[in-house]
Amino acid sequence: MARYLVTGGAGFVGSHAVLALLDRGHEVVVLDNLTQGHRAAVPSAATLVEAELADTRRVAEVFATWRFDAVLHFAALSIVGASMREPLHYIAENVAHSLRLAEAAIKAGCLRFVLSSTAALFGDPDRVPIDEDCRIAPSNPYGDSKRMVEEGLAWAGRIHGLRFATLRYFNAAGSDPAGRAGEDHDPETHLVPLAIDAALGRRPALTIFGDDYATPDGTCIRDYVHVTDLAEAHIAALARLETHGSCRYNVGSGHGASVKEVIAAVERVGGRAVPHAMGPRRAGDPAILVAASDRLRAETGWTPKHGSLDEIVRTAWAWREAHPKGYGDRG
Ligand code: UFG
Repeated sequence: MARYLVTGGAGFVGSHAVLALLDRGHEVVVLDNLTQGHRAAVPSAATLVEAELADTRRVAEVFATWRFDAVLHFAALSIVGASMREPLHYIAENVAHSLRLAEAAIKAGCLRFVLSSTAALFGDPDRVPIDEDCRIAPSNPYGDSKRMVEEGLAWAGRIHGLRFATLRYFNAAGSDPAGRAGEDHDPETHLVPLAIDAALGRRPALTIFGDDYATPDGTCIRDYVHVTDLAEAHIAALARLETHGSCRYNVGSGHGASVKEVIAAVERVGGRAVPHAMGPRRAGDPAILVAASDRLRAETGWTPKHGSLDEIVRTAWAWREAHPKGYGDRG
């Protein structure tokens, strides 16, 4: 059994990773400021420390209280569109908090670190599917903030011996198949939950952000990866760090789906129409992002178990239908 610090463990991907760790009998301390995360998303078997990453004294106290085998760092600002409106805020927060956290971990002698990174590193990619050797050229400040954090960690690796794994998530979606956690953002900006809520009549028609992209149906193509598979990628990365040096992995299902295909999947699974209208492009959106996750598969044995778009939508639908108010902690 090991003990892990999970920042952002009350958030969407973080809470699913916490479940994966607890399911294996590990001890988990979640550090979250609960501005985007939810108290109810943290299982009672984990310890919740409600704190800001900016509060370096508090973070140091956490490292002094527990000895961690590794840090899993999910807490971040992560909305591409918002980063296009507030670039400096995004870069300052994500970079400063992540690198200060790594610094605190190193000072405490914890030299294993797993970073939530992003497909947004690749901007408009030079080839698809996107492998780890593709050109890093973010087309939005969110992606660039993660690039900067990856570079900072590389220096910490060279100078302090930090062993890190950066996992470049493609589009996380779905929810825990056992219904223990789900996706609840405020405001919600992600396609799958928005399309489901539109089908359930909980919000007005979905707007498709552009149908003039160079894709077969004109709408953007993304690689939707089940959040439980993503959580399992963290378990695989932690195991890899025990025996090997630092690593960088692209994590996706390897299959692309257009916005129109996602809408069709929601209609198929839910048995209801998704009211939608065509709108202009959203700034910062690349046309196609699909992962080549061969390196992760080959080096760790990871393989997506909930890979189909229908299963992603089925689990997301089940959780949203059962939780009309999400975790129910908003005014
Ligand atoms: N979309 C719409 N209408 C909406 C919402 C989204 O058409 O109302 C489209 C977007 O234009 C995009 C696709 O649906 O083409 C997916 O959009 P999301 O907002 O769900 O996800 P993003 O691809 O923008 O971003 C997500 C994460 C990022 C990560 C990125 C990597 O939020 O953190 O995936 O692919 F960087």
